[in-house]
Amino acid sequence: MVRAVIFGASGLLGRRAMRAFDDVSVTGTVFSRTGAGLVPVDATSADDVRGVLDRLRPDVVVNCVGERRPEVWASAPERAQRRNVEAARLIAEGARRHGARLVHVSSDYVFDGAAPPYRPNSVPNPLNAYGRWKLHAEEAVRAACPDAAILRLPVLYGPAEYAAETNLTQIGAQMSAGECIELDDVCVRYPTHADEAAEVCRRLAGALLQGQRLGSVNHWSAHEGFTKYQMAVLIARRFGLPAGRIRAGAADATSGDRPVDCRLDRDNLPAVFSWPPVRHRSFRAGFPPVVEPWLLATRPATS
Ligand SMILES: NC(=O)c1ccc[n+]([C@@H]2O[C@H](COP(=O)([O-])OP(=O)(O)OC[C@H]3O[C@@H](n4cnc5c(N)ncnc54)[C@H](OP(=O)(O)O)[C@@H]3O)[C@@H](O)[C@H]2O)c1
Repeated sequence: MVRAVIFGASGLLGRRAMRAFDDVSVTGTVFSRTGAGLVPVDATSADDVRGVLDRLRPDVVVNCVGERRPEVWASAPERAQRRNVEAARLIAEGARRHGARLVHVSSDYVFDGAAPPYRPNSVPNPLNAYGRWKLHAEEAVRAACPDAAILRLPVLYGPAEYAAETNLTQIGAQMSAGECIELDDVCVRYPTHADEAAEVCRRLAGALLQGQRLGSVNHWSAHEGFTKYQMAVLIARRFGLPAGRIRAGAADATSGDRPVDCRLDRDNLPAVFSWPPVRHRSFRAGFPPVVEPWLLATRPATS
């Protein structure tokens, strides 16, 4: 049976990826959120990465390790850099050494957001440290493991373990607590369900295992774009929450370090995605079950 290792299996994407790989023998590694069957690994430690790969000898590796929390970029930039770049390099070197195929997850933040849509060969120009780390990680992965599939994704949403785990659940929790919040209404995001992204990881892994040639960089994204303010309006309508306390702002757009619109072009997708087609989850249908657990009181739906 195919052996897979998913690094970062306790995260938003990694948890869903564990499900998407349940047709193979899959092992998940975690850092702080330990749990039954999960293997604790510090992916910024060469010894840890070597040890787990020597023991598990995977056929395919998926790297979902990263540090995407802006507060950590600001308070502990070296740690955030190691989680985004050093971990990617060590995992890619390990995969190469073991002859394992590699799917590496990256971000649309490698682009500046000024001229969407972005194709896999569009020239990156990150605006902030996170985008630069993701780009450096891609370069390190390509150098260590030239056959790896790099997957760039936009903002993800899905079942959360704590409200602040996703923008969406945080906004829902704040709104239901009656907080007055100002949300950016300029920057467009393409919230993509973590299950959809996990399915794409699985498809890429399957294609690599079959020896198919893929472009080194692959893009995946939901089609529909929303600002944070628009997402909040949808939440208010769906759950009957007062919309009067949310104000449209432009904080992200005027910060200078957040891209305005990084829409990822999916026009020339590798055949691996075309049949059977990857199941698209519409945001309007997908967000309510994700937000609802974080509302203080469940209110009757108004739409
Ligand atoms: N979420 C998004 O909107 C989004 C969008 C585009 C791209 N991405 C990228 O997709 C990937 C997965 O994102 P995510 O949202 O699932 O992230 P996440 O929820 O923050 O999870 C991060 C994962 O990395 C693990 N980790 C952190 N430091 C580690 C270390 N030193 N050694 C080993 N593991 C470590 C965490 O383990 P513990 O939790 O156990 O500590 C967790 O499993 C990342 O590369 C991210 O940059 C995310």
